Amino acid sequence: MNIGILGTGSVGQTLGTKLLTLGHKVKLGSRTAGNEKAQAWVSAAGSGASAGTFAEAAQFADLVIIATLGTGTVEAVQQAGPDNLAGKTVIDVTNPLDFSQGMPPRLFVGHTDSLAEQVQRAAPAAHVVKALNIISAPQMVDPASSGGDPDMFIAGNHEGARQQVTELLQSFGWQHITDFGGLEAARFIEPLVLLWVNYGMKSGGWQHALKFLKK
Ligand SMILES: NC(=O)c1ccc[n+]([C@@H]2O[C@H](COP(=O)([O-])OP(=O)(O)OC[C@H]3O[C@@H](n4cnc5c(N)ncnc54)[C@H](OP(=O)(O)O)[C@@H]3O)[C@@H](O)[C@H]2O)c1
Repeated sequence: MNIGILGTGSVGQTLGTKLLTLGHKVKLGSRTAGNEKAQAWVSAAGSGASAGTFAEAAQFADLVIIATLGTGTVEAVQQAGPDNLAGKTVIDVTNPLDFSQGMPPRLFVGHTDSLAEQVQRAAPAAHVVKALNIISAPQMVDPASSGGDPDMFIAGNHEGARQQVTELLQSFGWQHITDFGGLEAARFIEPLVLLWVNYGMKSGGWQHALKFLKK
């Protein structure tokens, strides 16, 4: 597939590099063309890697991943252009974290709404799926490096998109993916990041992950 990633941070770069190794083509998007971090990633990543604006990444893509700063996420979707996202699976990896009062962060939206639903409202014809927001970037593409066999939670309104995301995560090595159905479940998946950050602050490590047992 052609995959457009909105975001040039550690998540965007880590997912981009993994997707290239799986044979996909990846365009990393940022607010401005010629972004230095994106250009450096392209030089290091080699064949199949390219960079552009958020809109260029979205236009290029069969599937889009949003990996932007939480507070800039809706703005990034607007810059990408809702029409460029229409009919496409859009994986939302972001977290609605507010660091304005220091650590630990708080959520700037939650419980009766979610950042994923804000993304969906900003791009109504996109098939938004929440995924991968509750784990560090290196473990997103190597779940076993968390020290076991963790679970990932996904939610989205389009069943076919949830299935496509499940298969993509399986190609990253995820064996246990729980599908929570409609995107409203992102209201409960997003706050789990606070639990994950809390343990990271106490333990000083960031490789931990969640396990969800069910019959
Ligand atoms: N880091 C992790 O391990 C991890 C794990 C799970 C989830 N997440 C979530 O994944 C997302 C990405 O995290 P990250 O650490 O890779 O990168 P980040 O530093 O949170 O975000 C970097 C990206 O956000 C864009 N951005 C910043 N302000 C913006 C604004 N006002 N409008 C539009 N775009 C803006 C930047 O654009 P430019 O390229 O133009 O500078 C850049 O591409 C976050 O929401 C984070 O909570 C991160």
